[in-house]
Amino acid sequence: MAVERVRIVEVGPRDGLQNEAAQIPTDVKVHFIDLLSQAGFGWIEATSFVHPKAVPRMADADDVFRQIQKRPGVRYAALVPNPRGLDRALAAGVTDLALFVAATESFSRANINRSIEESLADARSVIEQAKPHGAHVRAYISVVFGCPYEGPVAPAAVRGVAERLFALGVEEVVLGDTIGVATPGDVRRVMDTLLPLADVDRWGMHFHDTRGIAVANVMASLDLGLSHFDSSAGGLGGCPFAGPGAAGNLATEDLLYLLDGLGIEHGINLDGVLEASRYIVEAVGHPLTSKVYQAGGRLRTIPAPR
Ligand code: HMG
Ligand code: MG
Repeated sequence: MAVERVRIVEVGPRDGLQNEAAQIPTDVKVHFIDLLSQAGFGWIEATSFVHPKAVPRMADADDVFRQIQKRPGVRYAALVPNPRGLDRALAAGVTDLALFVAATESFSRANINRSIEESLADARSVIEQAKPHGAHVRAYISVVFGCPYEGPVAPAAVRGVAERLFALGVEEVVLGDTIGVATPGDVRRVMDTLLPLADVDRWGMHFHDTRGIAVANVMASLDLGLSHFDSSAGGLGGCPFAGPGAAGNLATEDLLYLLDGLGIEHGINLDGVLEASRYIVEAVGHPLTSKVYQAGGRLRTIPAPR
């Protein structure tokens, strides 16, 4: 059945800001998130309770999470790598968690200093400790479509990790194209293997736009009935393995523009997202990569020919 409505998780404040060269003050992050809340998102991934030495830009997670204005009806999620991260997140009032496990051993080791098996054990502990608090858990699988160390990734390897995560009781598995290599053909191939595992509503797609194919990958996903997408305001974000100036996450503005053109509902105000992007651009100190942002937003009227 054709997708009529999508759910977007805005990940700019976390995936976007975690890699920025500039140290962005806590109050600027908080205001950015508040602007995004006003734009109508139902979900915002606000921050990340990881080790401050691993990701110095998220060292103020506790303050950011406490200080944002929690708009009724908005779910504010945070990344949690392990039980220590969970303790910090719960103390700050987080109830929507995002875990992350890799599809390859090399990426797992580089990202979190754990094997896949060890990280699944951490995921189990986090889930067991979080569920009594009523937590909702999304779990990312990173490098689903390709790994900077191991190259192509077999869909069967992703399937193995996804099965384990669903068995642990996560509500949703989010497939990360961490280094932005997927094409629509890859999306179809991987989802052929994965979709039989769980209902279509229990998958999320997290595309990075490193090679400019993210919007095409959304189209391929919609054709398969998938309706949960992550994106970041302005196209903030990226990956330390991509070259300087490389595009980051799928830009929220570009995603909204596509969905509007297709008549698919999303509930988000594009002008509000553009306002948040215009606010954060000064703090990050470099141009944003969203095409729709660069074009000045939606084309409302086509000028009459002279
Ligand atoms: P480790 O050094 O192996 O940790 O790091 P450890 O368990 O050995 O503990 C060492 C010390 O760190 C201990 O303190 C712990 O308490 C402390 P000590 O006893 O020595 O005083 N510690 C912590 N402190 C604060 N917060 C914590 C925490 N955990 C332990 N959560 C660890 C392992 C996982 C913590 C580290 O490698 C880490 O934080 N990595 C995070 C990497 C990261 O954030 N990557 C980016 C996010 S993933 C991503 O972007 C992909 C995604 O977007 C999807 C996609 O695109 O595919 C999600
Ligand atoms: Mg990412």
